Amino acid sequence: MGDGPVLEGEWTRLVPTGEDDLDLLAGWFADPAFVEHWGGAPLPRREVAEKYLGRRRPRVESFLVRADGGPVGYAQYWWSGPDGGGIDLVLLPAARGRGLGPDAARALVAHLRGELGWRRVTVDPEPGNARAVRAWEKAGFRRVPGGDGNLLMEHRPEP
Ligand SMILES: CC(C)(COP(=O)(O)OP(=O)(O)OC[C@H]1O[C@@H](n2cnc3c(N)ncnc32)[C@H](O)[C@@H]1OP(=O)(O)O)[C@@H](O)C(=O)NCCC(=O)NCCS
Repeated sequence: MGDGPVLEGEWTRLVPTGEDDLDLLAGWFADPAFVEHWGGAPLPRREVAEKYLGRRRPRVESFLVRADGGPVGYAQYWWSGPDGGGIDLVLLPAARGRGLGPDAARALVAHLRGELGWRRVTVDPEPGNARAVRAWEKAGFRRVPGGDGNLLMEHRPEP
């Protein structure tokens, strides 16, 4: 576990990653099914170590998503300006389709808006990734213009 706050969802808990998560994450990101919508190609252990263990703080914050007492996915947020940025999320194939993704996204957004005061939170799913688009919608994101090949969706706060 790394430094920083643990974020609590209703069914998920997001724990900052640390150096001792390398074996777990390297195994996941080496699996083609896990990375299907995360660049599409398995990642070498060295790249996982550089990118997903918290070494890019403070610009990027990485989390292990936990549910049912075990790790079920990886999430991150990254700053694109002084008061906003984006989030990314990938769950183990067996953990998908149970509403855990939107739950984790809500926990992230609550932290970003509430504790960090972000005014803008975006996601950029591939146009063909209908499950992700639907999951982001369930978490309060709506399509906006832009996206550079991918769709651009922005979180809309509850009125
Ligand atoms: C995207 C992801 C985080 C969503 O989390 P999840 O826990 O699986 O999401 P949910 O269980 O809420 O399911 C998503 C919704 O998509 C719907 N859905 C599933 N497949 C679909 C499809 N082919 N077309 C349209 N909707 C689809 C589901 O029915 C569900 O909606 P519903 O609750 O209204 O029925 C997760 O599926 C995942 O890790 N996918 C692989 C990585 C990825 O795509 N990450 C996002 C990159 S932007």
